[in-house]
Amino acid sequence: MSTDQHPRANSGVFRTKTVEQSIRDTEEPEHALKKSLSAWDLTVFGVGVIIGTGIFVLTGKVAKENAGPATALAFVAAGIVCALAALCYAEFASTVPVAGSAYTFAYASIGELPAWIIGWDLVLEFALGTAVVAVGWSGYVRSLMDNAGWHLPAALEGPDAPGGTFDILAFLLVLVLTVVLVLGMKLSARITALVVAIKVTVVMIVIVAGLFFVVGDNYKPFIPPAVTPEGGGSNWDSPLVQLLFGYEPTNFGVMGIFTAASVVFFAFIGFDVVATAAEETKLPQRDMPRGILGSLLICTVLYVAVSLVVTGMQNYKELSVSAPLADAFKAAGHPFYAGVISFGAAVGLTTVCLILLLGQTRVFFAMSRDGLLPRFFSVTHPRFRTPYRPTILLGVVIAIVAGFTSINELATLVNIGTLFAFVMVAAGVIVLRRTRPDLPRAFRTPWVPALPILSIAASLWLMLNLPGETWFRFAVWMAIGVVVYFLYGRSHSRLGREGQDARY
Ligand code: ALA
Repeated sequence: MSTDQHPRANSGVFRTKTVEQSIRDTEEPEHALKKSLSAWDLTVFGVGVIIGTGIFVLTGKVAKENAGPATALAFVAAGIVCALAALCYAEFASTVPVAGSAYTFAYASIGELPAWIIGWDLVLEFALGTAVVAVGWSGYVRSLMDNAGWHLPAALEGPDAPGGTFDILAFLLVLVLTVVLVLGMKLSARITALVVAIKVTVVMIVIVAGLFFVVGDNYKPFIPPAVTPEGGGSNWDSPLVQLLFGYEPTNFGVMGIFTAASVVFFAFIGFDVVATAAEETKLPQRDMPRGILGSLLICTVLYVAVSLVVTGMQNYKELSVSAPLADAFKAAGHPFYAGVISFGAAVGLTTVCLILLLGQTRVFFAMSRDGLLPRFFSVTHPRFRTPYRPTILLGVVIAIVAGFTSINELATLVNIGTLFAFVMVAAGVIVLRRTRPDLPRAFRTPWVPALPILSIAASLWLMLNLPGETWFRFAVWMAIGVVVYFLYGRSHSRLGREGQDARY
């Protein structure tokens, strides 16, 4: 079906790029990426980026502060939110197989301004997500170095460590991964496959070996009763839902499970990144849904098992917040397992960082190819066929952020940005079904519009469980994005310019 049969208003902020046009753009040789990935590569990619700081670090924190043994339920809740979103992502990714994930999907369905907002939002998600994981990685590497008797100068241990200012390890990791990405997808996919195998093995060790050390009493009570935080909890860092409805802020109890879910949601981020590689997939219509849903299912099962085992091994009040999986084994008198787990975590977090960085550069690339960011960034490397310019620029910026930033506040900001993208994608599925019912959809989201509406409600619910402070920061970032769009993107948009050429 030709584009001409779908006239669009090309002058407004809701102008949309047709799906055919999106696909055609990927066929221009100097802006094209290589199509080399299979469903298996995508699943490995998905598992590679999904299992990371969330399960290795945040599990201990939320069990201790928000949910106790019911952290497993928080993982189930967050997993359900992600599964609903995944069913929407899968339809979009299989219909619009073009780099850029939710950004591209929105451009084809809702319009240019919403697409820009999503793209800007994804830049936040992936850039800060990369930084968070790099800092988590650095903590595990330092712990391994300490075992071997090597110590970094305190100042280079990062802002989270006492007396530290600059995290040299996180900084260097991001720079090295940037080089790997510039050299090409295939190389990074191979490294990813090896590292994912190590990471999954380590998670399996936690589950299987840990089972032998579970003490039934640690599960009592499974949902600890609600308590008011010390000092009553400040307004600023209480969940927005508690502020809006005037609850007295509490931890634990049933509400604590949702607070925990809004934090451990970070552990699921990444399945959406699989969608960003659609353009580099051999058979996206078939392989995308398999890659996205498969990796999400594997991770959900592993997370529930790990959180049950760890809260069974150690009373939730005693869990460590920096390396809970390894420290639970130390507490059970098994430092050997602890060392193996720390090693696997350090290795595994490398791929998480790599793939988040990849997703980041691909979104930036797609936005630049559309003229919403300078086109300079969308020229691919003549030999490696990678978008090397945004990769290098963003890699350096993220390395600096990772070097100087503390992990905690960033994680919730990443979560709110991602959940917002989920809302937009689910809305996009409904819109595209109405505006382009004719498009071939290799994967169709079931029960439209009920399921996307449920997905929107579930994502909003988790967002409401994030702190008021996070909402404020997110609003500031998005406001900056809207200003940038009206100052640059709106007038430079390739779609807008083509519309003008057609008129004159
Ligand atoms: N899901 C990834 C992690 O847990 C981002 O680190």
